[in-house]
Amino acid sequence: MAIKVVFVCLGNICRSPTADGVFQKLVLDAGLQEKITVDSAGTAGWHQGRAPDIRTIASAKKRGYDLSPLRARQVLAQDFSHFDYILAMDSVNLSDLAALRPLDFSGHLGLLLGFAERKDFADVPDPYHGGDRDFELVLDLVEDAARGLLAAIRRQHNL
Ligand code: 4NP
Repeated sequence: MAIKVVFVCLGNICRSPTADGVFQKLVLDAGLQEKITVDSAGTAGWHQGRAPDIRTIASAKKRGYDLSPLRARQVLAQDFSHFDYILAMDSVNLSDLAALRPLDFSGHLGLLLGFAERKDFADVPDPYHGGDRDFELVLDLVEDAARGLLAAIRRQHNL
C-alpha cells in the first residue's frame, strides 16, 4: 500500500500546489512514485477546479516544476480516511484541519515546515496579495521542507 501525502493551504492555488509539484518531483527523482502518492487541497473551495495561480505556475516553472496540470479542490473530512500525512502550510490551515479530524485518525497531521531544516519560519506565508519575492520565498521554504519530509518518510517506512 502506497503512503499517501496531501498538502493543504487556503485556496489550493498557490502554496499547496507548489508543495505538491516540488514533492512529486523529489519522489519521482528517488524512484518512489509507486510507494508514495502526492495530492493537495484547500480549506476553502473558492477556486475549485481551477489551475494554480499564474504567478505560482511561472515561479515554479523557473525551477523546473510543471504545476499546470494541477486543479484546485477543497479538503474533505473523508481525506482523513485516505491520507497518511496531512500537511498544513500554515497554522490557520492546521487549526481548520484539526476541526475536521476524526477521533480515529492515526496518521500525521502537522505543519509542513516542521520538516524544514531552516527554523526561521513556522508557516509558509500566503503570497496571494504579494509580489515575485513572496512566490520565491514559498519555493525556498517548500523545497527545504519537502527534502526533510521525504527523508522522514523514508526513515519511518524503510524506503
Ligand atoms: P493559497 O493562497 O492558500 O496559498 O492557495 C491563496 C489563494 C487565494 C486566496 C487566498 C490565499 N484568496 O483569497 O482567494
